[in-house]
Amino acid sequence: MFDTIAGRYDLMNRLMTFGQDQHWRQFVVAKADSQDNGWVLDLACGTGDIAALFCKSASQVRVVGADFSQNMLIEANKRFSDHQIYWQSCDANHLPYHDNVFSAVTFGYLLRNVDDSLHVLQEVRRVLKSGGRVVCLDTTPPEKNILYPFIRFYLRFIVPLLGRLVARDKAAYAYLTGSTMGFHEAEELAGLFRQAGFGKVGYQKFMFRTIGIHWGTK
Ligand SMILES: C[S@@+](CC[C@H](N)C(=O)[O-])C[C@H]1O[C@@H](n2cnc3c(N)ncnc32)[C@H](O)[C@@H]1O
Repeated sequence: MFDTIAGRYDLMNRLMTFGQDQHWRQFVVAKADSQDNGWVLDLACGTGDIAALFCKSASQVRVVGADFSQNMLIEANKRFSDHQIYWQSCDANHLPYHDNVFSAVTFGYLLRNVDDSLHVLQEVRRVLKSGGRVVCLDTTPPEKNILYPFIRFYLRFIVPLLGRLVARDKAAYAYLTGSTMGFHEAEELAGLFRQAGFGKVGYQKFMFRTIGIHWGTK
């Protein structure tokens, strides 16, 4: 599915989020607080925006962008060929890295797509150095407040319609809606971070509380 939508992925992101998505990625990179000379991993890097922001954030930081979709990696490489980023193909469930390697690991919109979030968080913790930060950006199920009917309408009808018209793939964007509604509540996800062994866990919500950024420290 991700291979199919790679070409129109960025345009869809800008449209669906009213241009807000890059601000959240900047927040992710700031929270990761990566050090010069350290290695950082942006997992599920997609078309590479978070990895590229890392390059801008600290001149000496060494960045790996990893994803299991070949087409996403091809797009990322095309967009940021002038950046010093190591693009790698890998599955988040089985990271091909030694223990204690990275000073920060980030991922945008990954956990919603995996079968076992706790397992992926444990795998991420394994490859982080002691004191290293994990930062996770994802959608979060809408809260049952006055905005709920509007957000639900937007997710159920507008997002798949945009997917059909812009990405020419209604099913992929209907999947986004389904996986958002079925994903962990923010507090529950924070609990999984703690269960995986992270300390100093926190989170902040954005865009009518439908986007969550979680962080923690090894
Ligand atoms: C919605 S895109 C997000 C891309 C990027 N992080 C961003 O901020 O736009 C989700 C990405 O996760 C990748 N992905 C999903 N499951 C994965 C897994 N198990 N291992 C590695 N990448 C995965 C997909 O290939 C896709 O590129």
